[in-house]
Amino acid sequence: MNETPFRILGIPGSLRRHSYNRGLLKAAQQVAPAGVDIEVSDLADIPLYNSDVEAIGEPLPVREFKDRVRAADALLIATPEYNYSIPGVLKNAIDWASRPPSAAPIARKPIAIMGASSGHYGTVRAQLALRQCLASFGALVLVKPELHVFNAGERFDAEGNLTDSVTLGKVQKLVEALVAWTQRLRG
Ligand SMILES: Cc1cc2nc3c(=O)[nH]c(=O)nc-3n(C[C@H](O)[C@H](O)[C@H](O)COP(=O)(O)O)c2cc1C
Repeated sequence: MNETPFRILGIPGSLRRHSYNRGLLKAAQQVAPAGVDIEVSDLADIPLYNSDVEAIGEPLPVREFKDRVRAADALLIATPEYNYSIPGVLKNAIDWASRPPSAAPIARKPIAIMGASSGHYGTVRAQLALRQCLASFGALVLVKPELHVFNAGERFDAEGNLTDSVTLGKVQKLVEALVAWTQRLRG
């Protein structure tokens, strides 16, 4: 690893203070290999996408988010499952980052995805929906390993910190795979 850190932008698809998915990204920060920096973004201030607003000029939170996406070597998205799909806040942020199509910061980005839900299926359906969405602008999404954290209430404490060592090990493997995937894409 050289002196410039490998920069991963973590994107949680939840605004909840004690979010399990934010907790997965905090866990990723803990186990990131030396030379890998993971910044966790917050989507709370990003307004709903509106092309009229975009035409006048992007709001500051949108510009800042897009700059972070652009500067990142890779993205790590942690999504909850809402009604068998991804939450609107996550879709909205992705929509902004996919604009304009000719210079979209998220296009062709190496991306790994994971997700935690309180249900029995661990965001399987949301992750499939997310893969479909990311395919639209040619994001380079890591296929394996998959990380579906089900029954999340048993694996996180009340503040949303991951307490399950098996899941922590899987998060570590996913981060390592994302770095390797990005390096492979760069040849
Ligand atoms: C509107 C809504 C819809 C949901 N739909 C699903 C669902 O389809 N499948 C599922 O496993 N959990 C579902 N859940 C439960 C979420 O998985 C759970 O709230 C989870 O903790 C959200 O992630 P977070 O802790 O990162 O906020 C839903 C929750 C909400 C608020």
